[in-house]
Amino acid sequence: MKWVFGKWEIICIVVILGWLLYKYMMIVKIYTKQEEEEESGGGGEVKPPRGSSGWPLIGETIEFIAAGYTSRPVTFMEKRKSIYGKVFKTHILGRAIFVSTDPEVNKVVLQNQGNVFIPSYPKSVIELLGESSILQMNGGLQKRLHAIIGGFLRSPQFKARITKDIENSVKLTLSSWMDRNSHHPLYLQDETKKITFEILVRLLMSVEPGEDMEFLKREFMEVIKGLICLPIKLPGFRMYKSLQAKERMLKMVRKIVDDRKTEMEKNEAKGSGLPNDAIDVLLRDTGESDGPQQRLPLDFISGNIIEMMIPGEDSVPMIMTLAIKYLSDNPVALACLVEENDELKKRKDESCEGYAWTDYVSLPFTQGVISETLRMANIINAIWRKALEDVEIKGYLIPKGWCVLASLTSVHMDEENYKNPDVFDPWRWEKTGASVNSSKFTPFGGGQRLCPGLEFSRLEISIFLHHFITTYTWVAEEDQIVYFPTVKTRRKLPIIVTPRRNH
Ligand code: HEM
Repeated sequence: MKWVFGKWEIICIVVILGWLLYKYMMIVKIYTKQEEEEESGGGGEVKPPRGSSGWPLIGETIEFIAAGYTSRPVTFMEKRKSIYGKVFKTHILGRAIFVSTDPEVNKVVLQNQGNVFIPSYPKSVIELLGESSILQMNGGLQKRLHAIIGGFLRSPQFKARITKDIENSVKLTLSSWMDRNSHHPLYLQDETKKITFEILVRLLMSVEPGEDMEFLKREFMEVIKGLICLPIKLPGFRMYKSLQAKERMLKMVRKIVDDRKTEMEKNEAKGSGLPNDAIDVLLRDTGESDGPQQRLPLDFISGNIIEMMIPGEDSVPMIMTLAIKYLSDNPVALACLVEENDELKKRKDESCEGYAWTDYVSLPFTQGVISETLRMANIINAIWRKALEDVEIKGYLIPKGWCVLASLTSVHMDEENYKNPDVFDPWRWEKTGASVNSSKFTPFGGGQRLCPGLEFSRLEISIFLHHFITTYTWVAEEDQIVYFPTVKTRRKLPIIVTPRRNH
């Protein structure tokens, strides 16, 4: 037999393999030592949470993602919780982090006292959002922007006006289903997106359906495709295309902002009246009444209007779709919901009065259905934060620079917090009150960054549910909820709708 390798080649191969093995052993040793040190707490009182770093480089990412594709994504968290406790260390999606499944620890992280914890999104999200987005910014400016937007969205005047807009949009979409071929399903996930996108654009910048709305829809879809991708800003790459789409949107929004400012200056003498949308409130704001008066720069306003579309775009239509999915599987809950909403409709028909926003949000069972959907299918399943200094929470040390993932889903699906957590049970909210945001129920986050769209979202979902279930009955085809990378239904929830006649 003829030798393929010479003596020197064999020596080289042995040396290279030996070197690789040595490197691998060193990495394993470093990881193991770190874990041992952390488990022993380095002899001090408070210790960093225990846990495993998994495999070199990839950590425990494969197990984490695999759990996201099952019907119980919390199994990843539950397994580690049972070994290491409610706060543990892991290594996922390219970084070592601490995961908290403890409502009290989450509360401290979300309260963000003294700006110890700052948002820590994946790099692609950071690139797309830009530094001056409310979602990334910290300190005084975040508080100011949060207060302006929150104050506007919570105001009764805004809710009264947007209620009419939501009703119109919902009724328009529902009436477009009337003449459908009853054998062809419609895809509820797509239909609800149509409704909510137009309302979101209207509340942010008062653009009506038409060419501009279509432009915004098209470009925005391009922008959000870049949220989870390689952060490479070179032509041909996803990130580059998304940033280009954002630039095109910015041009259009900046023009709307400029026109509005000119109009505002013209009308200043006449008094300003109620703000119409988020652009109006941001343009009018002059800062602290007792501090230096300073208006927000126009580029900053345009950027934030687009960036605010990101948390608002997908969340509401998904909750609408998932509520219908859960109700399709729970005929008793559906019957209760129909009864409550039929009663309201009857009252309104008899009195010939229009609906006030308070009519929708005061239906207790309907609010229970919304809370139960938010609990079980947490759209924002966790919140990423980074510690700016060493912090001690409940006996755990979170060292400076480390990331904490406050898992909302784990708290919502914990037997300790909710009896039979896997069961869709809207009645459980009868005792606590459905709209309560407590440390054990945080679908909208908490603390300084508590979602400013909370009340508006609940109102929008309530209006959709009311008109949908009082107008149609439906049969849902088989579908499944998936949880990774975001919560959605695998087949966009196909349903066959039939108009209700006799009520
Ligand atoms: C079911 C619907 C929604 C859910 C579950 C939801 C959830 C959340 C959560 C968990 C946060 C906190 C993020 C963090 O702490 O890092 C948040 C923040 C935010 N949400 Fe929502 N959201 C919803 C709808 C909306 C809508 C419709 C809007 C816009 C009109 C909106 C605008 C915002 C903004 C601007 C922030 C950032 C607040 C800040 O950092 O100060 N959200 N949302």
